[in-house]
Amino acid sequence: MNAVNTSASTSDWVKRSLQSVWHPCTQMQHHETMPLIPVSHGRGAWLVDMEGKRYLDGISSWWVNLFGHANPRINAALKDQLDQLEHAMLAGFTHEPVIRLSEKLSALTGGVLGHCFYASDGASATEIALKMSFHFWRNQGQTEKQEFICLKGSYHGETIGALAVTDVALFRDAYGPMIRNAHVVASPDARQVKEGGTAIDIARRAAADMERCLQERAGKIAAVILEPLVQCATGFAMHDSEYLRLVRALCDQYQVHLIGDEIAVGCGRTGTFFACENAQIWPDFVCLSKGISGGYLPLSLVMTREAIYQGFYDSDVRRGFLHSHSYTGNPLACRAALATLEIFETDDVLAQNRVKAASITEALQPLAQHHQVKHFRQQGMMWAFDAVFDDANTPAAKTFSRRFFTQALQEELLLRPIGNTVYLMPPYIVNQEEISIVGERMLKVFNQVMGEAA
Ligand SMILES: Cc1ncc(COP(=O)(O)O)c(C=O)c1O
Repeated sequence: MNAVNTSASTSDWVKRSLQSVWHPCTQMQHHETMPLIPVSHGRGAWLVDMEGKRYLDGISSWWVNLFGHANPRINAALKDQLDQLEHAMLAGFTHEPVIRLSEKLSALTGGVLGHCFYASDGASATEIALKMSFHFWRNQGQTEKQEFICLKGSYHGETIGALAVTDVALFRDAYGPMIRNAHVVASPDARQVKEGGTAIDIARRAAADMERCLQERAGKIAAVILEPLVQCATGFAMHDSEYLRLVRALCDQYQVHLIGDEIAVGCGRTGTFFACENAQIWPDFVCLSKGISGGYLPLSLVMTREAIYQGFYDSDVRRGFLHSHSYTGNPLACRAALATLEIFETDDVLAQNRVKAASITEALQPLAQHHQVKHFRQQGMMWAFDAVFDDANTPAAKTFSRRFFTQALQEELLLRPIGNTVYLMPPYIVNQEEISIVGERMLKVFNQVMGEAA
């Protein structure tokens, strides 16, 4: 496992990967100049490549890893589960891991969201929530409620159905004719605050835009979908929790469902287990994925209320929820999730994270004060800032993200900026020494990359 390979075999692995593996979110040609890292193993916050070089996983491997790579407790739970049941279909059958996980998650919402429906990836959870809302209204005889509202800059996944509520031109444009359109309303992104204003003003303004849309079309709207507190994929746009309270009230007033996509922001990322707890509201559907399995196995789920569940409860199969997926409720993935939730409980992770977050914010202060940084922001265990360029149209500015990524690797950091937004989303087990490494080296990389742009 820990064997260190020779550089010759490393380049061979890279070559073979580039020939046979089509990598996601990647223009493959960029790998002519950009490194591809063949990972040998992971330990704690670190990934180690085949030459033994380590990288601190500052983005939790696309926001999934919570308690480190090769976590002994999650490993032990999975090994135990492997000897009992690797998988069984969930139609007509059930098993202990999926029952215990559903009960635990329901308990975390005080029983408000007491029914869990399972899938494997985040985009599928989005689609399930959209379909459930649509079908619920249909079962109620409200067949005209077929439309959805999403926010400007929203990201809910990249399958065809999820793209309908994803407002990212790059991901949508090529597939435009295949995608159904949703109504896109203002984002409460707090970066819009002007001098003398507050994030709450922006939240109110965005909620007013939502209300305009609802006034016009509520009879045709099934649900509003949003990423509570942080729109991660489009540049870590953060907003005040007042927005969630206002939208919850609007959804009640106009009889529209609220879908909270907590795929990225759930599982303690924002400081509370569910991001919506920050606003003391519950959506009608909550989507979870990524961190729920500790970053071990593909698992996603949609939680919903008793009233919505009852809207499908009938003798007629066609009134039941129609979504079949082979790996629904996979026991291994559920067991990894149970081990993850157990760590939250036994280690009082949310309290520990509050202390850790303060220390990370302190370590990032030189960056926060940097004259080429604006909108330094933080929510729970997420940090982001925007790089400022004199001219954003220069090639150096346009290639900032890739150059930062490459330079960070040189400094043993895995960081992947989104455009000119640099963000940090480390696993929760990051220790004080690693926090210092992140603070010092992120600053060094930023200075180097901005120096090249000058
Ligand atoms: C908020 C949000 N929703 C949905 C998704 C899609 O999840 P997946 O990549 O597992 O399909 C993501 C992925 O980054 C996300 O951040």
